[in-house]
Amino acid sequence: MSGYGSLLRSLSKSTDKPVRAIVKGEIPKWVNGSLYRNGPGRFEFGNNRYEHLFDGQACVHKFTVQNGEVFYSNKLLETKSYQKTIENNKLFPNFGTTDKGSNIYKRFKNFFFPPETSDNVNVNILPYAQDHLYALTETHLMCKLDPKNLSINHTVNIKEHVGSIKSTIAHPHIERDGTWITMGVNPRGENGGAHYEFVRFKGGDSGRKSKHICEQAQVIASIPSSNKNGFSYFHSFAVTENYIVFLEQCLQIDFKSLIESLIKNKPRSSALISYKDMPTRIHLINKHNGNILKKKFVTDPQFTFHYINAYEKDDQILLDLSSYDSKYFNVENFSYENMKSGKLMETNMLKALARRVRIPLTKPENEKGEVYCEIKDINSDLPFELPVINYWKNNGLFYKYVYGTNHYKNPFSIIKMNVEDPREVYEFKYGQDGFHALPSEPIFVETHHPKSEDDGVLLVMVLCEKNDYLSVLDAKNLNEIARADIPEEVRGAFTFHGFFADQKNFQNIV
Ligand SMILES: [Fe+2]
Repeated sequence: MSGYGSLLRSLSKSTDKPVRAIVKGEIPKWVNGSLYRNGPGRFEFGNNRYEHLFDGQACVHKFTVQNGEVFYSNKLLETKSYQKTIENNKLFPNFGTTDKGSNIYKRFKNFFFPPETSDNVNVNILPYAQDHLYALTETHLMCKLDPKNLSINHTVNIKEHVGSIKSTIAHPHIERDGTWITMGVNPRGENGGAHYEFVRFKGGDSGRKSKHICEQAQVIASIPSSNKNGFSYFHSFAVTENYIVFLEQCLQIDFKSLIESLIKNKPRSSALISYKDMPTRIHLINKHNGNILKKKFVTDPQFTFHYINAYEKDDQILLDLSSYDSKYFNVENFSYENMKSGKLMETNMLKALARRVRIPLTKPENEKGEVYCEIKDINSDLPFELPVINYWKNNGLFYKYVYGTNHYKNPFSIIKMNVEDPREVYEFKYGQDGFHALPSEPIFVETHHPKSEDDGVLLVMVLCEKNDYLSVLDAKNLNEIARADIPEEVRGAFTFHGFFADQKNFQNIV
């Protein structure tokens, strides 16, 4: 088996009541809290099936770890999208799936006035102001969840609260007091062109007491798109101590293709055009006062879903990315069929590498009025996606270690790399016992009295032909120190992202 195969599951029911997992080995007693994960948990409804990996209905998974014991539950979120899909026995349009029964009038109406079924929040789940739990995607809607039963408490429409922003993302940055810095787009901003909008949702006491996250919104900055005929796709961005770092890159949402997709009833993904030779434009924004640096920083064409980290060093910013070659990148490569069959595994189509961009802040512009920033592979032999760092300690600061997932080559594995000395690599391969297995993004959990940046464990949700399990790896050497086996009759599903709510800092959402 080269692809996800039968592990790309479509669940038909939730496991609401936590089930006990059987622990083999020993989970350290200081690992106390809940691992939350989110992803597309249901692809099939009767004879209909979503056509892209990004389209399945949101399913949130929860592993509660306490005193070495583990309990697992999951919930197919009862979004409007999910409820109406079941009620109407048809799929509503999503990223890579069209509504086959729709007419042109309805498609244009839904484009200009996105419907309530845009709430399939299947990409990430994160804490806000320590006490609130949000499931996220890349539309104008976010869902606040009840941490006890994972039901939806409140659906927040960012358009109703933050003037110019028409959509948001699933990868905000979170500060120590629970403040979020996030971004969205206004496709028709000032002068009719698209603008990238950056916003802060203040955390702390006021955030904790707020009914929903948008009550605390403060717009930071607005950047006009460099492309008059569209705007760059963005999935995440980076922050340093003083800056927001944002890339306009080769994958562009092209207005003409967008209109064509509405007329011809093609999926929204078809409007994302990869311009192989388009240089990457780097924007720097002072995150304290919103000032945008006027200098035009550029680097080579590439595409990034996930920024690894960035930090300031002397007169440079070092920016690390999980970066795809623009020559081969196409978002439609990540179709349901391709991921299930593994057709594109071990090809450049799915190969992201860790790359470092050096942004020289004081270097003068060249004759083209640009400052070129060098981009180099950190390690050209190591496919690197779903990157994770010791976030609460090192985000925006100097760091050495990044952990990631290899879904590029079988057997699938978790990898660790020292970005300062990229020859230092560790790998833990799954499926060595003969059962095909699919590890998730690894979540780093630090010990209470760490002696080094990597003093902790990685929690990995593993889908397996036999039984699914939580795998606990020593973050120093990636040795597996424990597994918590979920009973075979209970199934998990594919997940993109999540976080660990430790008992100490997130006591109300554990
Ligand atoms: Fe992501």
